[in-house]
Amino acid sequence: MGKKREPVITIDGPSGAGKSTVSRLLAEKLSYMYLDTGALYRALAYKVIKEGLPPGDARLSELCARTKICLEEREGGLRVVIDGEDVTEKIRTEEIGLLASKVSGIPAVRKALLSLQREAGAEGGIVAEGRDMGTVVFPDADFKFYLDAEVGERARRRYSELVMKGMAADYGEVEKDIVLRDRQDHERSISPLKVPEGAVIIDSSRVTVNDVVAKIMEIVRC
Ligand code: DC
Repeated sequence: MGKKREPVITIDGPSGAGKSTVSRLLAEKLSYMYLDTGALYRALAYKVIKEGLPPGDARLSELCARTKICLEEREGGLRVVIDGEDVTEKIRTEEIGLLASKVSGIPAVRKALLSLQREAGAEGGIVAEGRDMGTVVFPDADFKFYLDAEVGERARRRYSELVMKGMAADYGEVEKDIVLRDRQDHERSISPLKVPEGAVIIDSSRVTVNDVVAKIMEIVRC
């Protein structure tokens, strides 16, 4: 008899809902791989800026074809490497987040990243975080979660995160970016952000990260 495949757990939700922290902790507790799919879109956005292409440019498809993005698990966390360049820290700016949201609405970009994500989850034992994990990338996932929080709370968290990293931040701007990113992610015609069928919805506005992780652990361990 073959070895039973480990589960695939998907965590979807809007920007700033706490997906990354929750997913990372969960993966650590379960000794699963953590797949940060937003980092893949951010890495592509980084290259779009580097090459000076407008976000909707037809050459984006060709750019995807000649770009190699890898997520490497190393001591101290996951590293994002694009064409051999480690961009893990560089892609964490608001500018790149917004551009990632823009380029992620382009079909060629989504297509280019789809197989990469599915390959990463083929063996199971993975916590996959993003906007279309439970709807498109892993529709047959064993456990699906949708993590949400009020806009003001998400903006406050994002602002504190930026300040803690020593990055320049203005609360009003951060909130505006979140509202804009929500609109772009929800309204795009291809793989829009929505609650996947069968997902457990968790509102993290008034609960701690540890509470969210504990709730998810309770469900996946049943
Ligand atoms: O999660 P994040 O902020 O790092 O993601 C950046 C952008 O990438 C997000 O605004 C939309 C896009 N994205 C996506 O379209 N699909 C995913 N699975 C993950 C991210």
